[in-house]
Amino acid sequence: MTFILQCPVCRQPLLATPSGYQCAAKHSFDASRQGYVNLVLAHNKHSKEPGDDPEMVLSRRRFLDLGYYNQISDGINQAIATVLSESASAGDCSVLDAGCGEGFYLARLKEALAHGRDPHLPIEYHGVDVSKFAIRQATQRDRSMGWFVASINDLPFLDDSLDLVLNVFSPANTPEFARILKASGSLVFVSPGPKHLNGLREIIYPVTREHDAPAITEKAKGLFSPAAVQRITYPLELIGNQTIMDLLAMTPYYWNIDRETKGKVAALDRLQMDVDVEIRVFRKKSGDGAGELESGLEK
Ligand SMILES: C[S@@+](CC[C@H](N)C(=O)[O-])C[C@H]1O[C@@H](n2cnc3c(N)ncnc32)[C@H](O)[C@@H]1O
Ligand SMILES: [Zn+2]
Repeated sequence: MTFILQCPVCRQPLLATPSGYQCAAKHSFDASRQGYVNLVLAHNKHSKEPGDDPEMVLSRRRFLDLGYYNQISDGINQAIATVLSESASAGDCSVLDAGCGEGFYLARLKEALAHGRDPHLPIEYHGVDVSKFAIRQATQRDRSMGWFVASINDLPFLDDSLDLVLNVFSPANTPEFARILKASGSLVFVSPGPKHLNGLREIIYPVTREHDAPAITEKAKGLFSPAAVQRITYPLELIGNQTIMDLLAMTPYYWNIDRETKGKVAALDRLQMDVDVEIRVFRKKSGDGAGELESGLEK
């Protein structure tokens, strides 16, 4: 097995120990009881509990487990299966879900790829999120994966160490993704399409406008070449108030709308809406395009 984790303090490789990980300079990070490792350094924390809070994490888990977004997950899995079958790398294959939340997409990816892949070429799965509540939930989906509390702005992986980075509805840092990807590596970026959540948005905003195109293509320029785009759209009928409120809690609207508007959503028992999601595949460019980019942080 190759070592791909990087010490957040001194940037040397992190090696597995019986209790967690340690680098040559003896910076050590213990695994939690649940099986994840926290690699956020206290002085780099910008708030006491960064990332999604327990309520948001549990809402997302309840909603996703009902299967409403399985088609999105299936589309992602297909895109990744194609990327990995085309990639030149014949040795160890490592995948990272950056901003993995409570682990829904990574767990389904592993299930999908378990079939039809040469068992002698296993894939190592890693999930990173800055919310420790999200990562705790993720460990419950599959303890055999590498789950880490860390920021996408300081990923605990060595340069050129991963085959694929997946980023779903989460902040993105394209220079950091390019740093950790191997020369043949790919980024799979998933974001809302123009009509995503229409139906819910019409209740929240008197005048709805389409989601803007994501800035990723512009941000990725220099480091990545666009390889494929796929759009997944389908109508969805949500039934039950808990499910509708769970969806609301997964969106930024939950925090931005006033009490009266939240009351309107809380009174709903059924909701007709659109799912509209874009999956973009980028390939890491060879050479040193890094200098062309300023900041790739994307919301
Ligand atoms: C909208 S959720 C998406 C989660 C998951 N990908 C999904 O679609 O179910 C955004 C996630 O990004 C995480 N997040 C926010 N800022 C982050 C950062 N700087 N580094 C890593 N994760 C971050 C949040 O904690 C949250 O879990
Ligand atoms: Zn160290």
